[in-house]
Amino acid sequence: LEKPIYGSWVDQFHGKGAFGLNFIDLMVRQGNIDNPPKAPLVPGFECSGIVEAVGDNVKGYEIGDRVMAFVNYNAWAEVVCTPLEFVYKIPNDMSFSEAAAFPMNFVTAYMMLFEVANLQEGMSVLVHSAGGGVGQAVAQLCSTIPNVTVFGTASSFKHEAIKDSVAHLFDRNADYVQEVKKISPDGVDIVLDCLCGENTGKGLSLLKPLGTYILYGSSNMVTGETKSFFSFAKSWWQVEKVNPIKLYEENKVMAGFSLLNLLFKQNRSGLIHNVMDKLIKLYNEKKIKPRVDSLWALEEVKEAMQRIHDRGNIGKLILDVEKTPTPLVGENIFISFETSLFI
Ligand SMILES: NC(=O)c1ccc[n+]([C@@H]2O[C@H](COP(=O)([O-])OP(=O)(O)OC[C@H]3O[C@@H](n4cnc5c(N)ncnc54)[C@H](OP(=O)(O)O)[C@@H]3O)[C@@H](O)[C@H]2O)c1
Repeated sequence: LEKPIYGSWVDQFHGKGAFGLNFIDLMVRQGNIDNPPKAPLVPGFECSGIVEAVGDNVKGYEIGDRVMAFVNYNAWAEVVCTPLEFVYKIPNDMSFSEAAAFPMNFVTAYMMLFEVANLQEGMSVLVHSAGGGVGQAVAQLCSTIPNVTVFGTASSFKHEAIKDSVAHLFDRNADYVQEVKKISPDGVDIVLDCLCGENTGKGLSLLKPLGTYILYGSSNMVTGETKSFFSFAKSWWQVEKVNPIKLYEENKVMAGFSLLNLLFKQNRSGLIHNVMDKLIKLYNEKKIKPRVDSLWALEEVKEAMQRIHDRGNIGKLILDVEKTPTPLVGENIFISFETSLFI
């Protein structure tokens, strides 16, 4: 690394820090991504902590600074080394947990809304998984622009909790095209789709002229506990073909967005630094705030991942080094442990 900066969070001096648990971590664990890394590996793409050491040429950061960072894997570790270009200072009012919930969700949402789709006053946006980490960041950023209407799909039990941030909510299994058209017959200006597959045609059909459809995920490839080649193949099979001539005839924009590729493969960390500056300003102005679903001890990562699998989260899950695991109580657990121990 040319200019390394070292962030450390489970360190013996400070004992503070946290890691973001993202949907992509589930996909990595299952091997549902392009070129999955070989095991064993340390997962995780974002974290917060305290700088423990800096490279010789590093300027602007000192040992003891509170920082949040992107890491190309290896984020869920006691000590993380990541290049300076992926590190950002944490605002004074922001906790380590919030900081671990901030970069991935808000940068993704910001880039899609403002850099790719050019969100303007009076527009409308449809976002899938509206109750999730990215979904809630999208909803909050939309509220920073006057008269933006947000449509969202999410599991029904989340609707009550997110109804203030998403004006029109539909169950994830509903015929959302019809539902949106009942409210807005012309459709919407922006569709954000993280369910790669059969939703592409639906999303494009909902766009107003000059509207933008962005594909940014493939959550639907995760089905069971382990990778299912059947669902993997089915998802790719169902990806619809788009006729570019129709796009120009209908005045529609189709785009894709991948933050990790932009950062780690396409060298656009400078652009992301500018976006982080804007997001931190919005945070300091109290216009946005990461929605944290729950905090988990490192030992509880399996249960935390299960909560996303089960679609239980509203906002972001955080692995918090200060949290101790919830003790397993109850006679049954103790007895079965003893039984297996002495067999
Ligand atoms: N392209 C990028 O740069 C980028 C960056 C960050 C995230 N993403 C993508 O954005 C999406 C959201 O990411 P996130 O980290 O914020 O996660 P998240 O939305 O908090 O993910 C969990 C939610 O996704 C929904 N979901 C949809 N299909 C699912 C499935 N097969 N299994 C379990 N849950 C499913 C569930 O909500 P409902 O049941 O309410 O629908 C679930 O609660 C993911 O597809 C992720 O890969 C892309």
